Amino acid sequence: MSRRRPLARLPLAALALLPVLAISACGLLGSEEEADLQVYSARHYDLEEAFAGFTEDTGLTVQFLHGDDDELLERLKAEGEDTPADVFMTVDAGMLWNAAEQGQLAPVDSPALEAAVPEDLRDPEGRWAGLAMRARTVMYNPDAVDPSELDAADTYAGLADPKWEGRLCMRDETASYTQSLVASLIDLHGRERAQEIVEGWVANDVEVMSNDIELLEAIDAGGCDVGITNHYYLARLLEEDPDFNVEPYWASQEGDGVHVNISGAGVVAASDSKADAQRLVEWLATDGQNAFVDANHEFPVNPQVEPEPLIAGFGEFERMPVDAAAYGSLNAEAVEVLDAAGYR
Ligand code: FE2
Repeated sequence: MSRRRPLARLPLAALALLPVLAISACGLLGSEEEADLQVYSARHYDLEEAFAGFTEDTGLTVQFLHGDDDELLERLKAEGEDTPADVFMTVDAGMLWNAAEQGQLAPVDSPALEAAVPEDLRDPEGRWAGLAMRARTVMYNPDAVDPSELDAADTYAGLADPKWEGRLCMRDETASYTQSLVASLIDLHGRERAQEIVEGWVANDVEVMSNDIELLEAIDAGGCDVGITNHYYLARLLEEDPDFNVEPYWASQEGDGVHVNISGAGVVAASDSKADAQRLVEWLATDGQNAFVDANHEFPVNPQVEPEPLIAGFGEFERMPVDAAAYGSLNAEAVEVLDAAGYR
């Protein structure tokens, strides 16, 4: 097991360029010991517990380096062939596409992933697979909004209607969550129409917030009537307080469906443990699905796996297909649209 390169031995020049990231381990590792697999992860949720089952099933230990999507991808590129990373895990489909485009992920031939993960949630060339699904949908305060006020055909565009003026809260323009949502609007409606929609939100004096929890708390407190967040933040808040006064609304059910994004992973191209790395990604999509998605109240990608009861209680919904190539390739345009609309 001497092939692993510890994180501490990375080239100093590369480390100096990169932000400080948190490292944590899973399995029975001493702090100086190296794990069998190194995962660079942008998931800001408890991973260690979910991966304990993988170590039990396979005997392989896993260590994590946490950071955000961009930081971790930059780090992978800076480290090149010397990277200790075996698996790259992100919280955005566009970022998975981007990492693959930049040659950082290895194609894998995996009948297990083909069987477990719907086609639109994995790379056609096998370089990454979605592992957990998050719905970015409309949230409302039931004391202030009757769901019949929302546009069931295109709920995202509907929030540009003047009736929502002064009632709307959304996430900031720097969040990949916002950028991929706008990229999906460009993909669906074309840039001109997407621009009109974003300008409509801005004209409604949208209050832009820097995290989804804060946004939901503002809806609960009556500071805004309606907003857009990932579904699992509501699940978290309801778990703490069943009387939390926010309801989810499945967007665009009479149209294109709810915008969903995926958290997913790929085997790092420069990994020297590709077979074990592939085994980990496959485990997360199959035996480990519940452990991986339930702790964060996400939806399984694997249709054979049931969602946990709290989010199952939100009801079934139709989703938009995920177009990772569009979200990735339209990201720059999405940022331009947000900027041109004065969304901030
Ligand atoms: Fe999140």
